[in-house]
Amino acid sequence: MKQNYSNYNKEDQEVWSILFSRQIAQLEEHACTDFRLGLHRLRSELNADAIPDFDRLNTLLYKLSGWSIEVVPGLISVNDFFMLLSQRKFPSSTWLRKKDQIHYLEEPDMFHDVFGHIPMLALKEYADFMEQFGKAGMNNPEQVTSLQRLYWFTVEFGLVQEDGRQKIFGAGLASSFGESSEALHCDKGDLRPFSLETIMATGFFTDRHQDFYFVLKEAQQLFDAFAEYRITLPCLT
Ligand SMILES: [Fe+2]
Repeated sequence: MKQNYSNYNKEDQEVWSILFSRQIAQLEEHACTDFRLGLHRLRSELNADAIPDFDRLNTLLYKLSGWSIEVVPGLISVNDFFMLLSQRKFPSSTWLRKKDQIHYLEEPDMFHDVFGHIPMLALKEYADFMEQFGKAGMNNPEQVTSLQRLYWFTVEFGLVQEDGRQKIFGAGLASSFGESSEALHCDKGDLRPFSLETIMATGFFTDRHQDFYFVLKEAQQLFDAFAEYRITLPCLT
């Protein structure tokens, strides 16, 4: 599948611009350094001016980390998802929410997929981690639930400690104005220290904002914990 850029109309371009500008205003101060760095590296193709052209964004992203966006029709199977990640391809839809959905969205659209996920994939350590994550899921079907939980509580809704406070790490937070505000201002009791074992034993809901968030000491803590877990898996390749 390909992105058909000429399908986007004036309203789509306007929605992209509103979403992008609103998130940037919030993330300037509240996103972790890695997210901001990734966004900065991609800024020529990923910005508030226009909906990104996937071909051009892919050329830049591939040069930076060997990753690219793979257009998918919407939600895909878990197997396909892990397979794409293992090939350094990130699945994204091409549809964008409408103006009346700016405040609430049931299903991830391209703003979530691209703005939320792609900046971090411009960084080598994170890019390598995501490839290994995909391989682990593809080759160890009995681990799928544990891996989905890890993904949910880190890649999507993780926070990370920086400058003595929590910053946004996950794509689900980075791309959501409402939930990022909530996560940053939640009670201390709703913040839990990152633990891979605890996360893998913790279920999650997808139909409402999170009741609690896991906080990494730094991104490396996730990469190290995952590397340790990975060598315990029956199938590593
Ligand atoms: Fe996502």
